[in-house]
This record gives sequence, structure tokens and C-alpha cells, in this order.
Amino acid sequence: MPFMAKLLGIDVGTSGCKVLLIDESGHVLRQASSEYPLSVPRPMWSEQNPEDWWQGVQACLKEIGEPNPDAIGLTGQMHGAVFLDAADAVIRPAILWNDQRTAEECAQIDAVVGAELVRAITCNPPLTGFQLPKLLWLRNHEPENFAKVRSLLLPKDYIRFKLSGVKATEVSDASGTGAFDVPNRRWSSELMEAIEISPSVFPESFESDVVSGRTQASDYLSEGIPIVGGGGDQAAGAVGTGAVEPGVVSVSLGTSGVVFTAIDRPQFDPGGSVHTFCHANRSWHAMGVMLACGGALRWYRDSFGNGRTYDQLAAMASEVDPGSEGLTFLPYLTGERTPHNDPNSRASWSGATLAHGPSHFARSVFEGMSFGLLDGFSALKALGATCDEVRVTSGGAKSKFWVQMIADVFQTPCVTLESDEGPAFGAAILAGVGIGLWPSTSVACNQAIRSRSLQLAKWQQLADP
Ligand code: XUL
Repeated sequence: MPFMAKLLGIDVGTSGCKVLLIDESGHVLRQASSEYPLSVPRPMWSEQNPEDWWQGVQACLKEIGEPNPDAIGLTGQMHGAVFLDAADAVIRPAILWNDQRTAEECAQIDAVVGAELVRAITCNPPLTGFQLPKLLWLRNHEPENFAKVRSLLLPKDYIRFKLSGVKATEVSDASGTGAFDVPNRRWSSELMEAIEISPSVFPESFESDVVSGRTQASDYLSEGIPIVGGGGDQAAGAVGTGAVEPGVVSVSLGTSGVVFTAIDRPQFDPGGSVHTFCHANRSWHAMGVMLACGGALRWYRDSFGNGRTYDQLAAMASEVDPGSEGLTFLPYLTGERTPHNDPNSRASWSGATLAHGPSHFARSVFEGMSFGLLDGFSALKALGATCDEVRVTSGGAKSKFWVQMIADVFQTPCVTLESDEGPAFGAAILAGVGIGLWPSTSVACNQAIRSRSLQLAKWQQLADP
């Protein structure tokens, strides 16, 4: 057997982290995961302790037990703000992607920089989850902490710093800060100067498949292992499912719900329904993001499920006709991005009558999530994206019932991957591209994902509503 390179992918997620060791044929050799808490100090706030991420990653690396992988790729929850002081100590808990405290700061960015210029530079409106508004929030609300800030890192890049001592990021995650010039794939000093933020707080940005530094010797990894840029969880997840060419749409059913497609130029939605970011394959992507998708189902299961599993809830939901006999659920439990960009939107049921029972409520939750995803899918189409094939991934893709419902609602065939390893897999592939195992991310995807068989969820025409 010829020598096979070993690639490590590290995913710093919201509910926990996952580490994956693969070989260059895409075969998973080992994997480990570890959970950590989320703190909600006030309604609509969301924070985590970066030290918990680091402990989680260390625990996974210990379990994987491979101190000498050939390269490492990082991925993780996007948009979060890790504030470091002059001694590189964490100043306060990280503020996360689904935190909604920054509406005033978003308005401030538009007012000071100019709404049109912000969109021309960043390809997006300033959104409450993005990183730059969080830094402005610190300036407005915790000036004593703001005065200490010397560096601002994204979650996966904090782990890069712990592993290598290098402060760096890459274009896909940097795009979600709201301070990045997305068409030109570099930080926007113009925007930062306008809002009076020093560009020096942001780390150097690399392309996603470029080596950003090397490991320092640590308990579970040897010194000198190349660490590539990697990608935000959505971009890396798309690499892992092969959504690197226009035409393929990936739908990720995690806590958030994301409808994603690669695009070949930095075209953006003037209405701001979908985000346009740099993709990890040196091109761009557009995506619609629901803040509570699988997260809404989890909330429903925990609050009203009476101990039922997701499969049992899906079985109940399948007893009821499409449309839940007029019962409608809006899943905006943490405000919403696509299509409303409204941090103040809230979840609700409407249309309930005495005829509705538990199965209707269960079905209405699946329908609320699926039609929320349709908003993103329709916005991608309105942008001119070709959406011939939909690949459904992440935890929710395990539910045949839900995938079939998405195929019905999108009126487009959906496939699921037989083996769905998530963003850590894409990060490991980017690591391989970074050390020259493959000439490009597209070639890597073809070779490493080719062997994974796809299952087709048959789309059936819905009966007339
Ligand atoms: C994407 C987004 C979420 C997070 C959490 O814009 O906010 O998908 O990355 O996974």
C-alpha cells in the first residue's frame, strides 16, 4: 500500500467540537467529539467561553491520538468575537453568531459609513450576528473592555492561535465579519477608518487553502505541522459535500439552517436576503441563513415533546396532511436573518383551532423550518443561481421525512450523502489542498467525495393546496 497522507480537520461548533482524521482517499480513520455549554446571559444574547473550545479540542486530539498528521484544517461557527488584550488573554466571553444585541451598532455602521458603500465593500448589509457590530457594541457598552482590545479573532482562529501562536484568518470566515472587502478578498481599511476602528486588531487573512502557520509543540500534536486557512463552517461544510461549483445547492440542517451555493463572481442581493461571502475554493458563494432551524426542532422537542425522539416527532407529523390543516409555525426563536434580517422577529403559531392536536403541532414545526429554508432557496434563485440539485447535510439530513418534505417544498430533487462528516471533513480536504495533495479544491472534492454514494429523496408534486 503506497504512503497515504493523514489530514486532520477540527470543527469548533456551537454545541461542541469535532475532530476528524482522514486519509487522502477521503476515508475517515478516526473521529472524536466533545460538548461544551452555551450561555444566554439575557434573552437574545449568546456567549461561550473560548477556553471551553480549547479544552474540547484538546480532549478530542487526545482521543484521536495522532501527533503527526501531515496537515491540519480548521473550521467552526462563524461570526463570533473573541477579544484578546495586549497579553493575548481573553477579555470577556466570546459573543456568538446568533447573538442579537447589536441592532443599534448595525444602524450606526450604515449611518457613518453609508449604506451603499457598506454593501459595495462587504456585499452584505451589516447584520447583528456579524463580528464588526460586536466590536462596536463593546465600544458603546463596555468601554473598559474595549480599551483593552488588541486583537479580535473568530472562533476557529482562536484555536489556530492556541495551536500555532499565529493570529490569522481566511477569506470565507473573514467575509462574515462585516469588515472585509469581499470582491477584493482583503480587509477593508476604508470601512474600518470610517468607523474609527484600528485595522491592527484584525489578523492577517489568507486564502482558505493556504498554509497560515505551523503548530507549536503541545500535549497532543508535534511541532511544525502545517495549518491551512480552513473555512467558516458553511464554506468548509460545502467543500465536504462538493458544493464548490455553481448548480449544486447544499442545505445544512444544523442549529442554523443554511441554503448555500457557489457563485463565480461576487454578485450580491441588493435586498440583503442572502449573504455573499468569499468561498473556500477561491471563488464566492451566496447563502441564506435561518438562525433557528434544527434549533427550533430541538426547542420544540425539549419543550413540548414529552420525551419523544426526533424520529417519533417525525412519525407523528407524517400522520397529518401537508399544510397541518391551517396551523402555521414561524420559527424565529432568535430573531431571523434570511429573508427578514430582523433581530426583533419572534416565533409564533397561528391558525390553531380545536381540531388541532399534537401531530398537527409537530408537523407545523417541520413545515415552518422547511418553508423558512424555501425563503433562502427562492432568494438564491432570484439572484440568478442555478439550483438543479440539492444536497441536504448535517444532523437533520438523517430524517427521511424532513428531507422528503424539503424536496416537496423546493419542488427539486434532494440527495443526502451516505456518509456525512460535516465541516471537519471539508477542513481536512482544504488541509490536503494546502500541502499540494490536490491541485485545487474542486479536484480534491471530486476525488475524495467521489466514492460516497448519494441517496435520492424522490420529489413528488404536492397536491394543490
Ligand atoms: C452562518 C451562521 C451559522 C454559524 C453557526 O452565517 O451564522 O451557520 O456559522 O454554525
